[in-house]
Amino acid sequence: MMAAAHEKTLDDLFLNTLKDIYYAEKKILKALPKMAKAARSEQASVAFLKHRDETEVQIQRLEQVFEILGKAPRGKTCDAIEGIIGEGEEIIAEFEESPAIDAGLIAAAQAVEHYEIARYGALKAWAAQLNMKDAVRLLDQTLKEEIKTDELLTKLGMAGANAQAA
Ligand SMILES: [Fe+2]
Repeated sequence: MMAAAHEKTLDDLFLNTLKDIYYAEKKILKALPKMAKAARSEQASVAFLKHRDETEVQIQRLEQVFEILGKAPRGKTCDAIEGIIGEGEEIIAEFEESPAIDAGLIAAAQAVEHYEIARYGALKAWAAQLNMKDAVRLLDQTLKEEIKTDELLTKLGMAGANAQAA
């Protein structure tokens, strides 16, 4: 039976947010190859494909966290990621033939990373609060990858995509 709202605890919030990011990661996994295809520069394309592969492992880590909780992995529609990815699709539709496409794609991908960093940061803190050491380790691995990806994207923007766009 589902707990009434006033009875819900941090465990419920943790599971809720885990479902949210699980849904989001699966969406991201599908979006990245499209972004790689739309990118003009080899560097941007390679970066998106590399992160696609990382995302696959990140999904497996989330499945391990579900397992720690004794729950079957299930996603819950995440409106935020739908919106962020939708904006990325708009950029592709509107700038595909433009020299600004890579700058647009990189900025869109960074919006995704920032969302993920916010979610994984919260999940990691809550897992620590709930004394779930293995979950902390798994979530921290992914959090570090997302931060690294964000930094790489910043570098790609500075290394040429923004200048190309101008
Ligand atoms: Fe991710």
